Amino acid sequence: MSVENLLSLPTVRLNEEDHTLSILDQTQLPSKTVYLRLSETEEMYEAIARLKVRGAPAIGVAAAYSLYLSVRPYAHYSFEEFSALFEEKRRYLDSARPTAVNLSWALNRMRACLMQHRHLPVTEIIICLKNEADSIKEEDTVMCRSIGQHGVKLLKPNWGILTHCNAGHLATSCFGTALAPVYTGMEQGMQFHLYADETRPLLQGARLTAFELQKAGADVTLLCDNMAASLMAKGRINAVLVGCDRVAANGDTANKIGTSGVAILAKYYHIPFYVCAPSSTIDLNCCTGKEIVIEERNPDEVTEMWYNERMAPPHIKVYNPAFDVTDFSLITAFITEKGIVYPPFKENFKKLFS
Ligand code: MRU
Repeated sequence: MSVENLLSLPTVRLNEEDHTLSILDQTQLPSKTVYLRLSETEEMYEAIARLKVRGAPAIGVAAAYSLYLSVRPYAHYSFEEFSALFEEKRRYLDSARPTAVNLSWALNRMRACLMQHRHLPVTEIIICLKNEADSIKEEDTVMCRSIGQHGVKLLKPNWGILTHCNAGHLATSCFGTALAPVYTGMEQGMQFHLYADETRPLLQGARLTAFELQKAGADVTLLCDNMAASLMAKGRINAVLVGCDRVAANGDTANKIGTSGVAILAKYYHIPFYVCAPSSTIDLNCCTGKEIVIEERNPDEVTEMWYNERMAPPHIKVYNPAFDVTDFSLITAFITEKGIVYPPFKENFKKLFS
């Protein structure tokens, strides 16, 4: 398989013929490639909450289509009835996961679309909502390509590149964020040595990043999270590329649990640490990382989910935050679809995004 063929496995797809949403079930990868066809709002909520669809941009796309599909059957409602139902479904979907800002960002865009077209008949508003969800998906593709174009300029052929979690194709509608510079380089004939942290406890690195990089024909090596320091000490890593779930206005960055540890190691070994960040993930309303709500997940993910038998004593207390916050001082630069942002991040984000 090649980089282009990877895109033949879409993460989220609207089926217009029967008004359902197809989701590549990421909980079954890499052993099974299964598409789920969802039609009920509760199923779509569950797909997001249980990480069947995951990765900040893909969650946003899935949520936008889910909201459209949830309100689509109510064309006969008055605008007041329709907007009340819309708000109920929007709030419900928004509560599926707290940290990735793309979820509320996409749902708020859908709400803005509803309000902008409130003078139209509900049947036409529904068409506008579908078009808005399509735009969110299309913009996601353009964003990935653009992050790839900007990011590849920071890389050199044959570099060793470490990534954490999965911020690749499976997390977006196209090339991903953190892996976009890699895929763009590969398209240009460059080769890299990719290192994928397994990413305990949900193993997005082992199950998803290793899977998609292998499918794309990249040279990829899997390592346990606690092996990154040894690899860096040996001089095998030239750059770290990660994604993000919410970036605060000062540059503090929430991403998959373990990211901040990798950033601290990179700083110690003088390795550039790049966060690939679509502007939809930069939350200028959030001043610092202290304001970011970190999702706490089920203890079972740590004690038994990936084992034939439970491997921890019964009733043991478990600490299972899904994300951590990397301090802005550890980040070399953000690679956004609008360009590369160096410190001071607060000032430079304002310049780029205002
Ligand atoms: O819990 P997940 O698998 O949704 O976490 C995903 C990440 O942390 C990604 O790095 C982030 O969402 C960026 S995806 C382009």
